[in-house]
Amino acid sequence: MASPVAVTLSQHLLAEEQKHAVSPELSRILIQIGYAAKVLAREFTRAALVGKLGLIGDKNATGDYQKKLDVYANDAVIEAFSDNGLVAGMVSEELEKEKEIASGSSSDYLMCIDPLDGSSNTDINGALGTIFGIRRRAKRGGTIAEEVLRPGSEQVAAGYVMYSNSTLLVYTAGHGAHGFTLDRELGEFILSHENIRCPARGHYYSGNLGKFYEWPAEIRKYIEYLTDHDASTRRPYSLRYSGALVGDLHRSLIEGGIYFYPPDTSHPTGKLRLMYECAPLAMVVEQAGGSASTGERRILDVRPESIHQQIPFVIGSAADVALYEHFLSGQRSVAAKS
Ligand code: AHG
Ligand code: MN
Ligand code: MN
Repeated sequence: MASPVAVTLSQHLLAEEQKHAVSPELSRILIQIGYAAKVLAREFTRAALVGKLGLIGDKNATGDYQKKLDVYANDAVIEAFSDNGLVAGMVSEELEKEKEIASGSSSDYLMCIDPLDGSSNTDINGALGTIFGIRRRAKRGGTIAEEVLRPGSEQVAAGYVMYSNSTLLVYTAGHGAHGFTLDRELGEFILSHENIRCPARGHYYSGNLGKFYEWPAEIRKYIEYLTDHDASTRRPYSLRYSGALVGDLHRSLIEGGIYFYPPDTSHPTGKLRLMYECAPLAMVVEQAGGSASTGERRILDVRPESIHQQIPFVIGSAADVALYEHFLSGQRSVAAKS
């Protein structure tokens, strides 16, 4: 039997333009993100050989020590978008302020990006990620920061790249979530996960259990519930926590489960960043039938107050996120029955 014809990211986007009126400008942005992902995949793979492991010595806007690869990834993304007029501006984890892109002054789009997710994994050859969200400019004439501080529900596309056994790009432009695996010989992202569906419930959980005694009592009760034994609800859940949100979220998306990062002593309002981590992943997961919340409200409804805003975050299978919300609200008896 002849092997089926491979669908590249560009071909898929062309078809989406026809089927769903995805704008050609948005397609070009997503293709360029694919290009940046190939550059990053190449550099991540050889980082140990070219002196790119380890710290650079500075802290970023949210207080994390930057790795050499954080800075490399940020520079590579900026370079990929600096001269082609595709986006008018960028918000990045590694830039203290929003960046205006002169060549894109007439573009309708803005990009929010975590160039390298999972920085603690760089030196141990662990999974890494890139997370991105694309927004339409709300009004011309304002500053990029004013234009970009809109609820995540206004994102027009979002996605992530996962650098692991293979390099996988998952995106949504509002018509399902689709995954593409990089074929290094062809140099192309090939459709490998069409219309991803997140199982309604899983049996994996991802959270930094080292923070257990720093978490709210309700979350500690939730962990007790997950680790209790009950065959009818497939408990205990198994723990998976990799240090890269992208990797842990990807597991939940494909196999079902939940990732959470509640407030703790060192992050009283949460650690993860709304604009370039939580909102983009929330759009992907909702498009796949899952959900994402602060624990109290839908992530995509949160109106950001600042570009590096940090919030509590829970994401994954819809029933698991709902259960987490029940526990957080103190309704333990309701939760335990569901
Ligand atoms: P980043 O590498 O972009 O700073 O993101 C790290 C995030 C997330 O990917 C991960 O799940 C979490 O922070 C890990 O934090 P802890 O080490 O505090 O668990
Ligand atoms: Mn991150
Ligand atoms: Mn990062």
